[in-house]
Amino acid sequence: MAMQLDQVVPFGRSFDEYVRMFSLSDRDLQKTILSVADGPASFNAEGTQQGCQIQSVDPLYAFKGEEIRSRFYAVLDDIITQIKNTPDSWVWRYHTSPDALRGHRVEVVERFYADYAAGKAAGRYTFGELPHLSYEKASYDLALSSHFLFLYAEQLDTDFHIAAIDEMLRVSQEVRIFPLLTLSQEKSPHLVPVMNYLSAAGYQCQVEKVDYELQPGGDEMLRICRA
Ligand SMILES: C[S@@+](CC[C@H](N)C(=O)[O-])C[C@H]1O[C@@H](n2cnc3c(N)ncnc32)[C@H](O)[C@@H]1O
Repeated sequence: MAMQLDQVVPFGRSFDEYVRMFSLSDRDLQKTILSVADGPASFNAEGTQQGCQIQSVDPLYAFKGEEIRSRFYAVLDDIITQIKNTPDSWVWRYHTSPDALRGHRVEVVERFYADYAAGKAAGRYTFGELPHLSYEKASYDLALSSHFLFLYAEQLDTDFHIAAIDEMLRVSQEVRIFPLLTLSQEKSPHLVPVMNYLSAAGYQCQVEKVDYELQPGGDEMLRICRA
């Protein structure tokens, strides 16, 4: 189904946040990376400047940069107000306050926006929608999903998660997913069934602590490798 931009909250995270969320080492950053559901993150923009090979894929890329940026500013203040109204529901270690978080999100969307047209022309931002990816088998060393799988637990069922992760594993050697909590800040109900399925299919699944936490308890990622 075609994505409706007025139903999307296009908030994105920075390169530094991706490095922390996925414990990306210098060696990882030399790998070919597919960042699925990458949205208006600046991971690709900043990473490309540093010489990384990052491919972003998201249905959001059906839209023009100006449309994505306008939608971001249309929802920004509402989201920050909701966060200000629930200060104890967030960990203020990395983003030190709701206003600092606002500033970081603006920096990210502006970096994304400045890179988007050139990146799209270069094929670094490609329209694509899980659970199907258009890439050949084993095209990438590492596939990442930030703030999509497990988070939208009510909208996406266990079967969708399994199909999406199977597809990410088809096109890459390793998959990492962050966070493992839902929007209601509970452990995603899909985590255990997904891990059981993957283990039975012969993959190694490991939940690992990472150096990033905004949702309380949301400092873990799932790493999935071929056994
Ligand atoms: C909360 S944003 C996360 C953006 C980015 N990964 C980050 O962490 O900053 C969620 C993204 O999932 C994308 N998305 C929605 N449905 C998708 C699907 N079926 N396949 C891939 N991405 C999807 C949205 O367009 C949106 O950009």
